[in-house]
Parts: sequence; structure tokens; C-alpha cells
Amino acid sequence: MSTATEHPTYNYRVVRQFAIMTVVWGIVGMAIGVFIAAQLVWPALNFDTPWLSFGRIRPLHTNAVIFAFGGSALFATSYYVVQRTCQVRLFSDTLAKFTFWGWQAVIVAAIITLPMGLTSTKEYAELEWPIDILIALVWISYAIVFLGTVKIRKTSHIYVGNWFFMAFIITVAVLHIVNSLVIPVSLFKSYSVYPGTVDAMVQWWYGHNAVGFFLTAGFLGMMYYFVPKQAERPIYSYRLSIVHFWALIATYIWAGGHHLHYTALPDWTQSVAMVMSLILLAPSWGGMINGMMTLSGAWHKLRTDPVLRFLVVSLSFYGMSTFEGPMMAIKTVNALSHYTDWTVGHVHAGALGWVAMISIGSTYHMIPRLWGKTQMYSVPLINAHFWLATIGTVLYICAMWVNGILQGLMWRAVNEDGTLTYSFVEALAASHPGYFVRWLGGAFFLTGMLLMAFNTWQTVRKGSRAPRVDSAAQTV
Ligand code: HEM
Ligand code: HEM
Repeated sequence: MSTATEHPTYNYRVVRQFAIMTVVWGIVGMAIGVFIAAQLVWPALNFDTPWLSFGRIRPLHTNAVIFAFGGSALFATSYYVVQRTCQVRLFSDTLAKFTFWGWQAVIVAAIITLPMGLTSTKEYAELEWPIDILIALVWISYAIVFLGTVKIRKTSHIYVGNWFFMAFIITVAVLHIVNSLVIPVSLFKSYSVYPGTVDAMVQWWYGHNAVGFFLTAGFLGMMYYFVPKQAERPIYSYRLSIVHFWALIATYIWAGGHHLHYTALPDWTQSVAMVMSLILLAPSWGGMINGMMTLSGAWHKLRTDPVLRFLVVSLSFYGMSTFEGPMMAIKTVNALSHYTDWTVGHVHAGALGWVAMISIGSTYHMIPRLWGKTQMYSVPLINAHFWLATIGTVLYICAMWVNGILQGLMWRAVNEDGTLTYSFVEALAASHPGYFVRWLGGAFFLTGMLLMAFNTWQTVRKGSRAPRVDSAAQTV
């Protein structure tokens, strides 16, 4: 982080720090993913050691990929985009620095406590109350830095990417604080303030909107900046982007009940969630189409620009997973898919195909600019990364579709006398080849990330220096 590359106007230091950690945590989180995928193929890899067991390491994977990798990518890109589109330096360098070190401290705390088995048991909100308090402090500081920067902007309007980032930051603050309300009984043990079914409903209101705002709205903010920038075309329709924004945030918040179909949750709330999930297809695809159509007249660039390819393929996976999600929210479909690997496949179509790919594309766009270089050290390596990531994702999700439908059908098959046709273990044995293919897909994806780390290292150390063009005058 030498001062030689310090930007005269913007705070690029914090962006560079988060960009590097995006790559580092991407590798760590995905390596843990590959490890737990291997445990499901070769259970001996649990080593009869509690802190290495699947049950403890799985939440470490989800926390590392969503919050450490995805979170660092969101911090890096949002700080980069807000400065460039508002043409001002971040509102507070000190608070921005606190968000970086505070967020890293949260991640390290997760890496220590989760394998120890210290967990609130709420999915995607497993960390215990002292860490939750630190998350809240970091997040409120993030909101002050981001909203403060928008407030002091030199431009007349607020670029649409920033609207998405603002919705993501504000909603995640509310979700985290409400879902984490607990009564502590010791330093690392607490109980939720909500009883039974209400607890489940609050948890999945949080869980689904973590998908909607953390894993979607924030990354759409990225999409609205980096796709036009990399394609060197204005966004296809600014009007559509505004409709997209309001429709998306108004609909997402109602859909959480689809995680609780056929449970003690009142039936009408499940039906509302199903209908809202179906409606959600429209704004999701509106956004995808807006991103895709931005390439009108620039499609030929896909032949030579692997960074653009990452961004466009991420949009395709976004479209695919937001078609699949509403289908899985239909109660009769969910009766088959729930509890099976189909859900895990859907998750990774979104997580690898959309979240990881758009983050990788955006990071490749930013890195040379942040270190004042003309381009990444090796474009062929980006190309290799692109194919490893794409093939890895396809292997992963196809294996999970096959496994999921197979499991759903085997579990519900009954003989004429009403007894089950297959035992659970028979369904598990039938899933084994799929688990191997998923592990292989994950290993492909992880290899691509290692190439990215090497390419980034070489760019920062050696890449040719660019003349300073990214002045405050240059904007979206
Ligand atoms: C229109 C958009 C979407 C809808 C309506 C939707 C709907 C659903 C449904 C019905 C489930 C299965 C619930 C269950 O049976 O337990 C599910 C699970 C999930 N989806 Fe989506 N989905 C959408 C988009 C996405 C995207 C883009 C991502 C990721 C970036 C994503 C991440 C997840 C996750 C992480 C779960 C698993 C939750 C869990 O049980 O742990 N979804 N989604
Ligand atoms: C190398 C890449 C990856 C591999 C091999 C991998 C592997 C796995 C495995 C084996 C599971 C447990 C599935 C089960 O319980 O049956 C899992 C769960 C999960 N992973 Fe990954 N993963 C990878 C990347 C990612 C990324 C990048 C994200 C998010 C940005 C992500 C988000 C999740 C989530 C949300 C779950 C929980 C799913 C659910 O509860 O339905 N993963 N992953």
C-alpha cells in the first residue's frame, strides 16, 4: 500500500485493502467449501475431531464466503463507486479505516469461535452476541461513511448504483439488529428474545433478505457501475433501472416465508411468500435485461475481454437463479425440493455464478486502476480463470440438480402397502457420484481463484504503470 499510488482526491487505500482481502477470503472460504464438499464424499475427512467436523466447518464456510469474501467485495466496490460517481473523497477516512479493521476482526472472531462450536444456531447469523455487537458498530460506521459521502457529493444526482448500495447498507443494518436481539446468559451463550414460530419467522425474514439485500442488492450496485464501465457503453435504460430498484426492494421483503413452507407458520403467510416470490421474477429479470442490453453494440468485446465475460456470465446466472427461486417457492415444487441438494444447487447458482463472478469481474476491473497500472499482469490468466469458474459452477449445479431431484423422488416413493420404497441410506448412496462431481467443480473454481491471486500479486508488483487518467473529473 505505498503512498506512490495514493490518489490525489479519493481514498483508494481502503479500497485497495478490501480488494486484496476479497481475493484472500475468496480463497480461504472456497477452500473450506472444497474441504466440506470432500467430507461429504469421503467422511473419514472429519478425522473424528469435533472442530474439524462438517457440522462446525459448514457455517465457517458460509460465513467466510458470504461475509468475508462477499462482504469485502461489497466494501471495496461501494467505496470505489461512491467516490467516483459523487466526485468526492470518502466522508471520513478514520471511520472507513475502522470499517476495514473492524470487519477483519469480525471474520477472525468467526474463524476462532465457529470451529469451537460457539454458535447462536441461526443460519447466516451464527455468531454470538459480543461479535454481533461489533458487526453492528462496523455496519453503522459503514452507513455513516457511505451516506455521508453521498450527502457531500459534487454531482447533482445520485447514480443508480449508489441507490442499490444504500438500500443494501440500510436494510442489512435493520435485519442484523432485529434478528440478533438476544438475552445473553454468558459471554458466549445467549437465547433469542423471540419464541418458537416467531423466532423462525424473524430468522427467515432475516435470512431471505440477507439473500435479497446482501447477496443481491449490493451486487446489483456493482453491476450498474462495472458493466457499463467495462463495456464502455451507458446503461441500457436509466428509467428501467429506477423501476427495477423500487420494484425489487418493495417485493423482496415479503418473500421470506418460502423458507418455511409446510411448517407451523400460518398457512396464509406461506401463501403470501409464494405469491411475492413469483412476482419477484419480474424485477429480477428487469435488472438482468438492463445489464445484458447494455452490451448492445458491444457484444464483439466478449471475444477479447474476459473481464466483461465474467460480468455478463454472472448476469446469466443471476437470471437463472432468480427464475429457479420463484419456481422453488411454489409450494408443490418445494414439497419435492426442500431438504434436498436442489436447494444447495440453487444457492450456488446464485453464489458462485452470480455473486462470485460479478465480484471477480469487478475486482479485475479495479485492481489495475487502484495501483495505477495499465492492465492486469496477464489477460490469458484471466481467461483461464473465467473458464475454470464457469465449468466449475456448471459442474456444481448440475450435480446438485441430479442429486436433489433423485433424493426428492426416492424419499417420497412408497410401496403399495404404504411402506417406503427406499431407505434414507439408499438415497444417500445414490447421491455419492453427485457429491464427487460437486467437489470437482469446487476444486475448479478454487483453482481459478489461485490464478487470480497470482495475477493480482504480479500486477501490483510488476504491471506497467499507467499515466494518471482517473482524475476527479472522470466519472461514470
Ligand atoms: C427471485 C429470486 C429468488 C427467489 C424467489 C428464491 C427462492 C428460494 C427458495 C424458494 C428457496 C428454498 C427454500 C427452502 O426450501 O428451504 C431458496 C433458498 C435459498 N436461496 Fe434463493 N431465491 C432467489 C434468488 C436467490 C439468489 C440470487 C441467491 C444467491 C445469491 C439465493 C440464495 C439462496 C440461499 C442461500 C438459499 C438457502 C437458504 C437455506 O435454506 O439455508 N436465492 N431460495
Ligand atoms: C469452491 C466453491 C464452493 C464449494 C466447493 C462449496 C461447497 C459447499 C458445500 C459442500 C456446502 C454444504 C452443502 C450441504 O450442507 O449439503 C455449501 C453450503 C453453502 N455455501 Fe458453498 N461452496 C462454494 C462456494 C460458495 C460461495 C462463493 C458462496 C457464497 C457467496 C457459498 C455459499 C454457501 C451457502 C449459503 C451454503 C448453505 C446452503 C444451504 O443451507 O442450503 N458457497 N457450500
